Amino acid sequence: MKITIFGCGYVGLVTGACLADVGHEVICVDVNENTVSALKAGQVPIYEPGLERLILDNLAAGRLNFTTDAPEAVKFGLLQFIAVGTPSDEDGSADLKYVLKVAETIGQHMNEYKIIVDKSTVPVGTAEKVERAVADELEKRGVAFDFDVCSNPEFLKEGAAIEDFSRGSRIIVGTESERVREAMRQCYGPYNRQRDKLMFMGVRSAELTKYAANALLATKISFINEVANLAEHLGAEIEEVRHGIGSDPRIGYSFIYPGCGYGGSCFPKDVRALANTADEIGQPAHIIKAVERVNDRQKNKLFEKLSEAFDGQLAGKTIALWGLAFKPGTDDMREAPSRALMEALWGAGAQVQAFDPEASNECRRLYGERDDLVLAEQREDTLEGAHALVICTEWKAFRTVDFSALSKTLLEPIIVDGRNLFHPDTVKAAGLAYYAIGRGDSVRSVQA
Ligand code: UDX
Repeated sequence: MKITIFGCGYVGLVTGACLADVGHEVICVDVNENTVSALKAGQVPIYEPGLERLILDNLAAGRLNFTTDAPEAVKFGLLQFIAVGTPSDEDGSADLKYVLKVAETIGQHMNEYKIIVDKSTVPVGTAEKVERAVADELEKRGVAFDFDVCSNPEFLKEGAAIEDFSRGSRIIVGTESERVREAMRQCYGPYNRQRDKLMFMGVRSAELTKYAANALLATKISFINEVANLAEHLGAEIEEVRHGIGSDPRIGYSFIYPGCGYGGSCFPKDVRALANTADEIGQPAHIIKAVERVNDRQKNKLFEKLSEAFDGQLAGKTIALWGLAFKPGTDDMREAPSRALMEALWGAGAQVQAFDPEASNECRRLYGERDDLVLAEQREDTLEGAHALVICTEWKAFRTVDFSALSKTLLEPIIVDGRNLFHPDTVKAAGLAYYAIGRGDSVRSVQA
C-alpha cells in the first residue's frame, strides 16, 4: 500500500517506520527542513528504543522516504495519516491549527480518492472539522474528488512505542465506510495476524476512546497517590495496600504505582483537554478535573518532604537529584515531576546537582546554564557536597545503591524517594532517614 504520513514527530515516525517495515511504501512529510534532511541522512531526532534501526533499514530498502514536498506527498498515498502535534491552548483545550492545516493541504492537492486518517489525539468532533476543511479547499478549486476521514488513535507508550505498535492490545478505527474498513484491514493486516485486534466503531466513539483510556489510567495514578497520602496520615504502608488491592483482578496491579505524579506528553494534556471539552458542552467532568488537581499537588510532594526534613530551611542547601525524565526509557521532560521540584528548590534558594542517563541535554535546553544547576555525568558526582538525595525517575540503574557509602557522603543522611524503590528497613539500617510516597519516614506515627 502507498501511505503518506504528515508529521515527523514521535507518533509519525513510529507509525511510518512500523508500516514500512511490513512492506508498505511510506512517505513521511514535515514542514521542518532540518528534520527532514537529518532523517534522510538516517539521523533520528528523538530517542526511542529500536526506532533508529527500523528507520535505517527501511530507508535502505527504499520503502521509507522523507520529504518537505507536501503536494507530491498528497498525491502519493491512498492513506493520508495526520500525525502532527496538538499542543494545549492556554485554556487547556487541544489546538487544532496544525491538524487543520494538513487537512487544507490535502484538499489543495488531492487528485483522486483519499482516506484521511486522524492519528493525532484530537477532541471529539475533529474528524468532522477535517472533513469540512478538505471539502472547502476542493470547492475553492472547483473540483469534486471523493474522500473519507476516519479516526485511528494511537496508544503508544514512550520507551515501548515499537512494541506497542506491533503488539498493542487493540487497533481502533472510527468510520462508517466499508471502503475505509477494507483499506485499514489491509494497512494493519501484518500486525493483526495472531488475533483480530481491529475494532471498528463510530468516528466520535473512536475519538472519545483515546481520551477515556488516558483519563482512566491517569485516574488510577491519582487515586493511588491520594490513598498514599491517606496512608501517611493513618499510619499505613501504601506498598502493602497496593499489593492488597492489586490482587483483586477487577482492580489489577497496573497503573497503581504511587509516585511523585504523572508527567509526559499525553496524560496531562489529554486529561486537561477532556475536562475542557466537558466544560464546553456544559457537562463538567468532576472526576477528571480532580485527577489533574491531585496530580498537581502530588508533583509538589517531594519539595514538601524536603522542606519537612530540613524544617523549611532549604536556602543554601544542595540537593542531589536522580532522574529528570518523566519516566525511564526516554529523554522527555515534558511536565516531568523533576521540573516542579527543581523550580520549587530554586525558588527556595537551594542548589540542584542532577543526573539522568538520557535527559541531561534536554534539561540544558530547557533551563540553560544557571548557577544553581549542575548536570553531572555520573550519578555519584551529584552527591559531592549534597545535603540530601531525591529520586524522581525509576531508572533501573537507580535500584542498586550502597546505602552505607551514601550515608557517609551526604551532608545530612536524607533520601526522598519519589518512586518507592527501596525497602524502608534497608535504607534505615544504614542510618538514613527515608522519605517515600506513603511509606517509610513519611508515615506519621498515629496514636491509637
Ligand atoms: C501514555 C499511555 O500509557 C499511552 O497508552 C498513551 O498513548 C500515551 O500516554 P506515556 O505518556 O508514554 O504513555 O507513559 P506511561 O508509561 O503511560 O506513564 C505516564 C506517567 O504515569 C509517567 O509519568 C509515569 O511515571 C506515571 N505512572 C505510571 C505512575 O506514576 N504510576 C503508575 O502506576 C504508572
